[in-house]
Amino acid sequence: QKYEGNPTVLEARDLPSIAKYMKSDACKRVFIMNGAGISTSSGIPDFRSPDTGLYANLARLRLPYPEAVFEITFFRNNPKPFYMLAKELYPGNFRPTPAHSFLKVLDNHKLLTKCFTQNIDTLERRAGLSDDKIVEAHGSYASQRCIDCKRPYDAAKLKEKLFKEEVAHCENCKGLIKPDIVFFGESLPPLFHRSIPSLKSADLLIVMGTSLVVQPFASLVDLVPEDCPRLLINLEHVGDFGSRPNDVVHLGKCDDGVRELCRLLGWEEELEREWEKT
Ligand code: APR
Repeated sequence: QKYEGNPTVLEARDLPSIAKYMKSDACKRVFIMNGAGISTSSGIPDFRSPDTGLYANLARLRLPYPEAVFEITFFRNNPKPFYMLAKELYPGNFRPTPAHSFLKVLDNHKLLTKCFTQNIDTLERRAGLSDDKIVEAHGSYASQRCIDCKRPYDAAKLKEKLFKEEVAHCENCKGLIKPDIVFFGESLPPLFHRSIPSLKSADLLIVMGTSLVVQPFASLVDLVPEDCPRLLINLEHVGDFGSRPNDVVHLGKCDDGVRELCRLLGWEEELEREWEKT
């Protein structure tokens, strides 16, 4: 019994008990799972929220169904919708949120082991997290290549094409160029699969701003030890949260949830200081 004699874990039922546990020496390795919901307050829409979500607004692109924008077969026939979306989401125009800065504060306290993110906005990096702490499970704009011959393509050239709303073609085989963002049906980056085993050593899992509907990312929640507390901070109840004795569900905005948690931890000033730097 890993936590014998440590009542905090067995009482994990609300933010105060999570904060108490985080301050105990039983909590050393915190893992994070992020989704689009932690970036909405920076102005980047999420995908599935009704009305405001990207999928509700892509209809104007005459897609057969919203997810087509991230499908290779559709992209081959009509790269325009993805190129338009890629321009809108291109990193650089958005500021990290307090929820991103909370990850930096967690790292400052030597508690952050790994942050798994589904987001391609690179805001975890812009909040100050070092590369070795981040796993961008759905890829990012960091690199781009031809979807046919896989030859890498120049980043600046692609950015120029995106902003001129032109399509980029491979200089080698004329194939379409796509950033290394993971499309439906494509395999996730090797780093994602290499990082999964470390979840077995988690002392705490915090899941923020995700609908937990996309696999294999969503299945990470099952990989932490049975008695490892799992904290969900989200507008709505998602996944199988509540099925384990140490699950804590905190419904509400990510920024509000992390501010409340930091207040309980005595990290409020540090959080605001880190966020001021972004
Ligand atoms: N605070 C808390 N929760 C929020 C906030 C907020 N400010 N804004 C949105 N949410 C919640 C929504 O209620 C929803 O449960 O975040 C979740 C966002 O879910 P999705 O829009 O499905 O985004 P995500 O889970 O990241 O999607 C996963 O789907 O389309 C693919 O590859 C894409 O990475 C993406 C994946």
